[in-house]
Amino acid sequence: MKKLIVANWKMNPATYAEAERLAAAVLKTSKKLKNVETVLCPPFVWLADLSRKHENEIAFGGQDVFWEEKGAYTGGISPKMLKSSGVRYAIIGHSERRRHLEETDAMVHKKVHAALKNGLRAILCVGESLKEHTRGETKQVLRRQLNKGLAGVRALFIAHRALLRNLTVAYEPIWAIGTGMPETPFSANKAAKTIRQELKKLLPDKIAKEIRVLYGGSVTSRNIFGFLVMPEISGALVGGASIDAKEFGKIIAIANLLSYDRLS
Ligand code: PGA
Repeated sequence: MKKLIVANWKMNPATYAEAERLAAAVLKTSKKLKNVETVLCPPFVWLADLSRKHENEIAFGGQDVFWEEKGAYTGGISPKMLKSSGVRYAIIGHSERRRHLEETDAMVHKKVHAALKNGLRAILCVGESLKEHTRGETKQVLRRQLNKGLAGVRALFIAHRALLRNLTVAYEPIWAIGTGMPETPFSANKAAKTIRQELKKLLPDKIAKEIRVLYGGSVTSRNIFGFLVMPEISGALVGGASIDAKEFGKIIAIANLLSYDRLS
């Protein structure tokens, strides 16, 4: 299977000109890499334009999505709006939104549901805080976030199983995000395994097996190899390193080399 590398630009860069330059520089590298799937998630203001321009060259994702289709939801962006701009993915439940905007598991659940129902590929972020990590509560946190985030999804999609394949889960230990202190590949793999076990309880077996589990948290070109060779990890969600075109180019080049398509 192809490795999936998602670039979460967060609230960067500051101007459209810079965003265009960054996208163009990444495209220059990604065009040559056929075995890795790369997704760019710029801020909403740049997303529609960049995605319309380049949707045939690279995949795009929103950093969030709202759960309603339309109406009086100031600031909201619906799954349909994203799709009609050529956007294929949406990051949902990122810890920065949970923390700064008080997004709850219940809100995350509605977003995942709306995204999948509309044929968007949902990247559900889960992960424990430092406190939970030191208390040894990682498994419980992951189970809770997955159970709440994916509640009822199985029943609703029983008739449209294909849509469930559009789900990706990103394991992002909060303490590793933007700190320069990534989780070890071994422990990240263990967490990914817990996620997969939980997915098997929540979704039809065949689909649970196919769902990609990513690692995110201080990923760089120096440590990506260690994560991608782990059996349970199918790719990475990259923050800081994704807004440096040269650094991100190295990351996707390594992922390209490690994709099974090439090895088989
Ligand atoms: P980071 O961010 O790579 O800067 O740690 C990852 C993320 O928040 O998705």
